[in-house]
Amino acid sequence: MSVRLPYERTGAKAQSGFQASRVFHVSSSPAYFLSPRPLARRKIQHESQLRYPMKKIGKRSRTPLLAPCVAFCFLLVNALVLSDRGQTANAETNSATPEQYRRFALLHEGDVLRGKELFADQQSAACSKCHTTDATAGKAGPDLFAVGDKFGRHDIIETILSPSATIAEGYSSTMVETKSGEDYTGIIKQATDGWIELMGADGRRVRIATAEIQKRRTSEISLMPEGLQAGLTLQEFTDLIEYLVSLKQP
Ligand code: HEC
Repeated sequence: MSVRLPYERTGAKAQSGFQASRVFHVSSSPAYFLSPRPLARRKIQHESQLRYPMKKIGKRSRTPLLAPCVAFCFLLVNALVLSDRGQTANAETNSATPEQYRRFALLHEGDVLRGKELFADQQSAACSKCHTTDATAGKAGPDLFAVGDKFGRHDIIETILSPSATIAEGYSSTMVETKSGEDYTGIIKQATDGWIELMGADGRRVRIATAEIQKRRTSEISLMPEGLQAGLTLQEFTDLIEYLVSLKQP
C-alpha cells in the first residue's frame, strides 16, 4: 500500500524512469524546510524534480533579489524627490491649512517691519489695496490705524482667515442691480437721497442714482477675500499679524 503525501505530485507529467511517487516539488516538501542541507546541494536527478525547469529560468529570475531591490531603490528615490518637491511647493504655494496658520501665528513671534512691508506689498497679500493705516479710511476696507487696540492677536488672525465670520460695522458689502441690468458689489462710501456711492474691491468708486436702482441688498459675505494667507508663508503671515497687533494709538 502506498501512502501519498499531500505535496506529492501525481507524476502524470513525470519523465519515464522516475517513480511518480518520488517526483514532487522539492521546495513543497516539509523536508525542504526542516533539512539543514541547502537545496542546491541536493542531488537533482532529473529536471522534472525542479520546481521550474532550467530552460524557463531567464537571466533575471536567477538573481531573484535584484528586481525587488531595483524597485525599492526606485521608490525610495521617488519618495525623496517628491517629499522634497512637496516642501518647496509648500513654500511657494502654501498648501498649509488655515488651522496651521492660526497655530503658527499664535505660537511664534513675527517681525513688525517685515509685516509692514508685506502689508504694503501689492504683489503678495495686497492688504493696502483696501486698507489705510493713517486714519483716512479712503479705501474700501476699514482703516486699521488702531486695529491693535480693537482686537487681540487671536481675533486679528481670525479677521484674515475668515473675513465673513464677523463683518466690521458699516463695511457690509452691498449688492446693487440697476434697471439697465448692471450689477455692482461694494461698500457704501457715501449716500444721499439722490445717489449712493459704492467702492468695489478694485478701489473704484461708482455713483448710482437712487432712481436707477432696481434691487439692493446687503451681503453676508465680506468684500475682503478669503484665503489671502495663501500668498504668504507661515512666517510671513505671522510677521503681518505682528504688524497689525502693533497698530495702536499712543
Ligand atoms: C478687496 C479688499 C480687501 C483686501 C485685499 C483686504 N481686505 Fe481686510 N477688509 C476688507 C473689508 C471690506 C473689511 C470689512 C468687512 C469685514 O470685516 O470683513 C475688511 C476687514 C479687515 C479687518 C477687520 C477690521 C475691523 O475693524 O473689523 C482686518 C484686520 C483686515 N481686514 C485686515 C486685512 C489684511 C491684513 C489684509 C491683507 C492680507 C486685508 N485685510 C486685505 C477688505 C479687504
